[in-house]
Amino acid sequence: MTDVTIWINGEARTASVPDETTLLALLRDQFHLTGSKLGCDVGDCGACTVIVDGKCVNACLMLAAQADGRDVLTIEGLATPERVHPVQKAFEDHASLQCGFCGPGVILSAKALLDENTDPTAREIRDALAGNLCRCTGYTKMIDAVQEAARVLRGKPDAEAGGEQHRTRGQATST
Ligand code: FES
Ligand code: FES
Repeated sequence: MTDVTIWINGEARTASVPDETTLLALLRDQFHLTGSKLGCDVGDCGACTVIVDGKCVNACLMLAAQADGRDVLTIEGLATPERVHPVQKAFEDHASLQCGFCGPGVILSAKALLDENTDPTAREIRDALAGNLCRCTGYTKMIDAVQEAARVLRGKPDAEAGGEQHRTRGQATST
């Protein structure tokens, strides 16, 4: 067993897990954060995408122990109770998803892209979403949505950009 403390959506979460437990299994089965989806479980589909220390990670490929002490953002931490993140709003406005299974991973990949590149080209967006497989859409509306979110984020002060407050570490809790 391994004891881990992971900063998930700004909150310290502790657990004792078998060594082989993946970050995805910990999130879903122990912390009940089921927004991160279990698709292929081998790193092919991107449904399990989360952001670890600012970078997209397939949570099915990362051991929970590897996330110890690190910051993890899941889809549950992206919106505030009052307002969805601009990427989520743009996906809704553009009807970019159908069944929605790929959505959390796609949206987090888009968020990570826009954190580093405030004005991505369609090609750059396609590259950023290349690890996220969608079986329902043709991706065109997703790209439109990411470009719309980029415009919104560029037009607002940082404090109004949404979501970032959840990255702030808070008080520790345990499960
Ligand atoms: Fe992790 Fe498919 S479930 S990449
Ligand atoms: Fe169904 Fe993408 S909307 S898999």
